Amino acid sequence: MPVPPLISGNQFNLTIAPGSKQFYPGINTSNLFLINGNYLGPTLEFIQNDTVEIDVVNNLNVNTTVHWHGLHVPAVYDGGPHIEIPAGTTWTPRFKVLNKAATYWYHAHTHMLTQSHVTRGMAGFIIVRDTEEAQLNLPRTYGVDDFPVVIQDRRYSPSGNFQLAALGDSVLINGTANAFLDLPAQVIRLRLLNGSNARVYNIGFSDNRSFQVIASDGSLFNQPATLNRLVISNGERFEILLDLTGQQGTGFTMWSYATEMMTDIPGAVQGMGMDNSYLNGIDFPLFQINVVAPTANPVTSVPATLINIPPVDTSGTSRIRFKTLSGQGMVSMGNFFIAGQQFDINVINDTIILNDKELWEFVNVSNLAHPMHLHDIQFRVLQRNGNPPPLHESGWKDVVLVHSMESVKLSMRFETYSNDTIPYMYHCHNLAHEDMGMMLSFAVIDTSGVSTVQQINGQAFSVSYTDNDWIIRHDLKGKLIVDIMDVSGRIISSFKLSEKEETIRIPCHTLPHGVYLIRIRHSTGTSTLKTVK
Ligand code: C2O
Ligand code: CU
Ligand code: CU
Repeated sequence: MPVPPLISGNQFNLTIAPGSKQFYPGINTSNLFLINGNYLGPTLEFIQNDTVEIDVVNNLNVNTTVHWHGLHVPAVYDGGPHIEIPAGTTWTPRFKVLNKAATYWYHAHTHMLTQSHVTRGMAGFIIVRDTEEAQLNLPRTYGVDDFPVVIQDRRYSPSGNFQLAALGDSVLINGTANAFLDLPAQVIRLRLLNGSNARVYNIGFSDNRSFQVIASDGSLFNQPATLNRLVISNGERFEILLDLTGQQGTGFTMWSYATEMMTDIPGAVQGMGMDNSYLNGIDFPLFQINVVAPTANPVTSVPATLINIPPVDTSGTSRIRFKTLSGQGMVSMGNFFIAGQQFDINVINDTIILNDKELWEFVNVSNLAHPMHLHDIQFRVLQRNGNPPPLHESGWKDVVLVHSMESVKLSMRFETYSNDTIPYMYHCHNLAHEDMGMMLSFAVIDTSGVSTVQQINGQAFSVSYTDNDWIIRHDLKGKLIVDIMDVSGRIISSFKLSEKEETIRIPCHTLPHGVYLIRIRHSTGTSTLKTVK
């Protein structure tokens, strides 16, 4: 099993170009988008609080994007479908690394073409390191006792090229078929990533050994979770420890025990048509492990405790959003909806006030399980169907698998970055579903600069909002004029208020979501408030 090269520092280069690779001897897969010459890019090592800059050079003849999955970055550098890198150009995002130590990844996120560009190879790992993690006695020598492991399934056409299919017929581990890995006889850390388009895996080992799960998408846990099965859905990461102490000379295999998964999960049962695959509805091996001699200074025990993650605290929640996941369809295609809507690149679906804590509830009334992902933030899982999540889902996360007929409640806070016009995405991380519109957007709006309470000549006025109305309260004496403007200052409508009305309700349900300016003109002065719909 090859381990992608690790690049460190503050300055990174990812050059994307067309290319080919032999996944099986003698068979050329030539429809690839290579990063720095490889199927799958290098692993980027980021240190918390460093400012990093990445030159993303698009030498393809099509536009693409690169998204930093799980990282908390400004919307302009998030690399969603709005942030295209035109063919032949370089995009240079620059951001401070604010995330906790964990395993993240980057991948293409091109409008309606995410599955195509990721299938062709546009993905790679990001490892964030921080001082909290550095204090623990954990394996962290890259490629020696600490390995990234990306699991993908691919389908080949007779010519050897990849077919752009949601479900593949054969497994690639770090871009390699029939992978095996020699591991020293000591505690080993595997950073698992499900980088598949739609297939979900149920990780276990051929000798049924248990393993310690120490981290999820966005952080380590308070303590390891000991499991012998681990469901990993698309885009999710889990770090696991294997204690191989004293096992030199033995071997075993990592499997996906897919037949034990719930049947709404992509790959658990055989499908029909495009969903049909040799890997569906069976248990299958992922890669072989051979235990070899230990290294000089091995980690030989699993820490009993890890970092300190406070319990989920929903106090101060500003807003609850219900998001029904609906539709009926297949793993590879279908008409699925979030809150009855589908993606429109010109529409902002939700506006969120910077620094607000929110509670989101996904209720899945569709026939399939969907791995739901939010950009920008890491969330905590509050409840699955009213019950607290298991230990391995109780840390920071950015993807959560929502089963058919399940309700999942998440708690999160939208901090640091705001942008009135460029949104972040939230979507199903089944890339076929995402491309077909099971994705919406949210903008994080800073309303503090022009606060929700303003004064004109010592008299206060304020605006509050619901999805349907803006409510203006004021103490101003005499007539005033209210102008509703879009974010660029264009007047949408104006109202004259008489002195009797101290509270005025302005219906806004017909306006699109986004940022609005409300200007109050009074004989003693003029002032403008920013609000959202
Ligand atoms: Cu992993 Cu919107 O992405
Ligand atoms: Cu993402
Ligand atoms: Cu889905």
